[in-house]
Amino acid sequence: MLILAIESSCDETAAAVTNGRQVLSNIVATQIEEHKIYGGVVPEVASRRHAEAISRVCDEAIKAAGITYRDLSAIAVTFAPGLIGALLVGVNFAKGLALSLNIPLIPVHHLRSHIAANYIENDELSPPFLCLTVSGGNTVLCEVTDYTVFKKIGNTTDDAAGECFDKTARALGLDYPGGVNLDKIATEANTEKYILPTPRLQNEYDFSFSGLKTAAINILHNAKQKGEEIDIPVFAATIRQKVCDILIEKTLLAAENLGYKTIALAGGVSANSELRSRMEAECKKRGFKFYRPSLKFCGDNAAMVGVQGYYEFLSGNTAGSDLNAVATLPIDYR
Ligand code: KG4
Repeated sequence: MLILAIESSCDETAAAVTNGRQVLSNIVATQIEEHKIYGGVVPEVASRRHAEAISRVCDEAIKAAGITYRDLSAIAVTFAPGLIGALLVGVNFAKGLALSLNIPLIPVHHLRSHIAANYIENDELSPPFLCLTVSGGNTVLCEVTDYTVFKKIGNTTDDAAGECFDKTARALGLDYPGGVNLDKIATEANTEKYILPTPRLQNEYDFSFSGLKTAAINILHNAKQKGEEIDIPVFAATIRQKVCDILIEKTLLAAENLGYKTIALAGGVSANSELRSRMEAECKKRGFKFYRPSLKFCGDNAAMVGVQGYYEFLSGNTAGSDLNAVATLPIDYR
């Protein structure tokens, strides 16, 4: 089943052609350079760039797959959650394509597609498993009961882990996107020199990163005001370690309590080197199977949208021309 998948939820305009779990092409046009000067994504700018790029990116995906638009069986598109203006560009373009080609339109939830990135290179992976999805806007721990059935057991009560990394990185003077750059320069953590708080929450699987983010920024601002020098690579490693401690501890606790033997990571922050290596080591120690997408499928891309779209289609989830973009929607919607 040849699917053209479209993703435009944030600052990447992406299109891919997939066939089940197989990826025939995967094109990503990133807007990073555009947003760098502002230190973060400017929604209005993102929408405009998506509108300029989307047609070309889809053409490239079709060409790279060695097919024509007429060979397609369906169009899959990210419709939620994300920046509303950015999502609307992809949704409207997908609606027009599906209508003109007279083929089904498949709405895909952004976080579900991040999880599906794990299916691309792991043929043996199938639900049920436990997945931690961490990105710039979301931190969700959920049971993947079936390909289109999810049970959210933990969520961030305020900021996402990616937001904590990005804003700390900005205060450290690192370029956007901060999380990646913070990870690159981080060396050895020093938790005695830089004391960061551990959030405590009522639901043991929930997360909170705003207090940690504020504490990190305050340490940096205070040091600046006093003219004290910050050891940037050590500070970066210290906050990275703290965020990873929280993410790993809660995920493993949930797996033990709920009896899961398979754990997956998903989302942009799953590219974090410490999160990947420590989670892998912990899973090995406890006899859990561990999966994470390869780096090129961690960030926003359309290949993962096509793969999740395939399963959404099989479960009967298609949409008409009245499909709308939605800024916030839980992963276990329906
Ligand atoms: O999933 P994603 O590409 O976009 C959405 O938010 O949907 O995630 C982007 C987030 C950003 O916060 C970025 O800084 C973070 O993922 N990120 C990382 C790394 N690579 C990307 N954070 C920590 N370490 C990384 N290596």
